[in-house]
Amino acid sequence: DIGNALDTVLAEGLTEEDLDDLDEAVERAHERIERGRAEDEFGYASLNLPTATDPDEIETAVEPVADSEAVLTVGIGGSALGAATISEALGPSDVDHLVLDNVDPAHVRGTLSDLDLDRTAVNVVSRSGTTAETLANFLIVRDAMDEAGVDWTERTVVTTGEDGPLRDLADGHGLPSLDVPAGVPGRFSALSAVGLVPAAIRGHDIEGLLAGGRAAADSLGPSLFECPAYAYGATAYALDQRGFSTNVMMPYAEGLEAFAEWFAQLWAESLGKDGTGQTPVRALGATDQHSQLQLYRAGPKDKLLTLVRVTGQPDCPIPETGIPDLAYLGGTDLGELLDAEFEATEASLAAAECPNVRIELDGLDAESVGALLYEMEAACILAGELYDVETFTQPAVEWGKRAARGLLGGGDFEEAEAVASKERLE
Ligand code: PA5
Repeated sequence: DIGNALDTVLAEGLTEEDLDDLDEAVERAHERIERGRAEDEFGYASLNLPTATDPDEIETAVEPVADSEAVLTVGIGGSALGAATISEALGPSDVDHLVLDNVDPAHVRGTLSDLDLDRTAVNVVSRSGTTAETLANFLIVRDAMDEAGVDWTERTVVTTGEDGPLRDLADGHGLPSLDVPAGVPGRFSALSAVGLVPAAIRGHDIEGLLAGGRAAADSLGPSLFECPAYAYGATAYALDQRGFSTNVMMPYAEGLEAFAEWFAQLWAESLGKDGTGQTPVRALGATDQHSQLQLYRAGPKDKLLTLVRVTGQPDCPIPETGIPDLAYLGGTDLGELLDAEFEATEASLAAAECPNVRIELDGLDAESVGALLYEMEAACILAGELYDVETFTQPAVEWGKRAARGLLGGGDFEEAEAVASKERLE
């Protein structure tokens, strides 16, 4: 619902004429996207994942670790956030999901010491198979398993590209391995083995996630007036052009906190190019109404707020107390309270001339989560076309990877020389 981004609500909102102009640009962008999909071009191929991903292949690959009590994902960025988002959104299972996506020694040691390694599945994910953080963490996990007398080759599943050191390692040890599909950048890979292996080990409905993605794919079309994903991407882009250069992703559901992190990567790494791109910020409703909202409502008028509401939450009645001041709470439900908080925030932002968009999900089940991820990816790709940037590359991220590797003596990289000599960086 983009109503609170329009001039019928906000003085600076988008006019009917703006939307018509945008719609023409959306039609051209949609044609480009469809051509890319039809030819499985790099990046655009991500939008084919709901049909291209084979759930049976994933279920088969994870069979050897079906007895696990925990799955430990070792990956970073796009090789970790999709899986974390899916696990958190689909909720508890008998199998915990932990993620090592940082090389903080205390965190890595602490995580390993809390696990029964004999009953842990290790899910190593790296598209390139060369990322220092992931490979270093995996070597440490492997070593810890050796020390604990656990055969790591029986507890490890690898997802990686066609070649590279991780592929060699998987082949060399006969590990179950899956592909990161060739045309799919990390941050667009949630609906491939990259995002779905932990979900399969945890017993989640991976076919449902893909079915949600397929339903979302069917909803793509040439007009923003009929395609929610494109309406979102186009609105965010148009508002950025008007100075709303920050996009606060604020789900009103604990299960979507990781989603906000996933979105931040998607938006920042895809659209932050050539001096453009909205800055994504992660927030959580209702919690951050008691902290960040002050700034969003009364600070600089440079923010779009994306408010996500989940309907159909379980009942959680609030007991009566007999205390007069609390009488308004008794007999209602936490869901009602959360909804009231949501609606009050949405309206108060609009009243303060802060554009906001509402995304509503019918529950946090596999289909709706699959659709949400797919639609956000489509929105991002659409926005990339409107900005006219290379949505699917991340040269600044790669720069840092090469610099760090070079500094550690992992090769001759000019980026490392530039850092070492403290040259002004371009
Ligand atoms: O989206 C991306 O391309 C990045 O965030 C990568 O996923 C991240 O850098 C990890 O790379 P790799 O999967 O090669 O280990």
